[in-house]
Amino acid sequence: MPTFLHQRPLHSPLSDPDPLSPRQSFSSQRQIPLFSRTGLIALLSLLLILGVILPWTGTPSIFSATKPASLTKWQQYTLSQAVSFVAKNKTVIVCAVSQPYLPFLSNWLISISRQKHQDKVLVIAEDYATLYKVNEKWPGHAVLVPPAPDSQTAHKFGSQGFFNFTSRRPRHLLHILELGINVMYNDVDMVWLQDPFPYLKGNHDVYFTDDMAAVKPLGHSHDLPPPGKKGRTYICSCMIFMHPTDGAKLVLKKWIEELQAQPWSKTKKSNDQPAFNWALNKTAGQVDLYLLPQAAFPTGGLYFKNQTWVQETKGKHVIIHNNYITGFEKKIKRFHDYGLWLVDGHASESPLGKL
Ligand SMILES: *[C@@H]1O[C@H](CO)[C@@H](O)[C@H](O)[C@H]1NC(C)=O
Ligand SMILES: *[C@@H]1O[C@H](CO)[C@@H](O)[C@H](O)[C@H]1NC(C)=O
Ligand SMILES: *[C@@H]1O[C@H](CO)[C@@H](O)[C@H](O)[C@H]1NC(C)=O
Ligand SMILES: *[C@@H]1O[C@H](CO)[C@@H](O)[C@H](O)[C@H]1NC(C)=O
Repeated sequence: MPTFLHQRPLHSPLSDPDPLSPRQSFSSQRQIPLFSRTGLIALLSLLLILGVILPWTGTPSIFSATKPASLTKWQQYTLSQAVSFVAKNKTVIVCAVSQPYLPFLSNWLISISRQKHQDKVLVIAEDYATLYKVNEKWPGHAVLVPPAPDSQTAHKFGSQGFFNFTSRRPRHLLHILELGINVMYNDVDMVWLQDPFPYLKGNHDVYFTDDMAAVKPLGHSHDLPPPGKKGRTYICSCMIFMHPTDGAKLVLKKWIEELQAQPWSKTKKSNDQPAFNWALNKTAGQVDLYLLPQAAFPTGGLYFKNQTWVQETKGKHVIIHNNYITGFEKKIKRFHDYGLWLVDGHASESPLGKL
């Protein structure tokens, strides 16, 4: 079994910068020298636009940074407030995002909008830039649970900073369940092809998907699979659905405990997925667990690597996960190659619009 199997390589190092990041597009606009002729004309035109057009079109995004009042408002916005604002039918769909991943967030949101579930989406912002950006475009749909992780250390996959911030996820999910709300968690390197909710049937406590690439028969069991070579299962912590039951809360409490019991170390470079699997292993007898069908929720290790299987299961795919690959550029290219990079042509379908 390959050693990368247990990893969820969503987050790549910052050394692999985001080509679409707002920071870069800003710097390319600063080239015009202010006091040259063109510079002055540009400045005058800008003032004209600001004075004449903007009062009727609303505040442009670049100037909202100078509006501390609205920003302070989002700083005070709590998870409970956000959940009560966003939840529909007692359900929220959450993700956790830092600024470099905004293009992936948009892509994921476009696919959710096509299934008409975007109203339930709550973005847990991992930094203030993300909090402000999302709420500016889509008020109320992002929340930051302080403290914000240090952005320099938080994004490197396998690093302690990365571990620290993924460790917070089960706490956020537990908080949401304590509010009596159903919660679906997704990584944002996913794309919905169909509505997953019809698959979340029954009254099970926790629903999840297998990250193992081995092909299962179509009518496979919905039980927790047997442990793999490392003594544990390879359930993905990338897509989880939970009802606000004691069983689901127990799994989350166990997950938090497991993260504390096996803290990050240089040699293991773990993420939150092994701890989630140990939590499932240790609570299996007391909790109603439900493994979702592989044909509908395949790991990227299967979907992107076995064309025969993809043909055989055509029409059955519901959520595609772009994992079993590391690096920002490679993920984008793969989505592109498979017609799943929707941001370039369909940004208007995202509630965030064009970022
Ligand atoms: C609300 O949830 C129930 C089942 O949980 C479902 O049957 C119904 O269609 C949902 N309604 C909306 C508006 O999403
Ligand atoms: C991660 O969390 C541990 C324990 O809370 C802390 O000691 C450490 O400084 C954090 N490291 C990073 C890089 O955030
Ligand atoms: C939990 O893990 C242990 C050690 O790998 C294994 O023997 C046991 O069968 C697992 N339990 C379940 C319910 O998967
Ligand atoms: C690919 O899928 C086919 C059809 O389901 C299956 O028979 C085969 O074993 C798979 N190949 C690998 C390498 O898993």
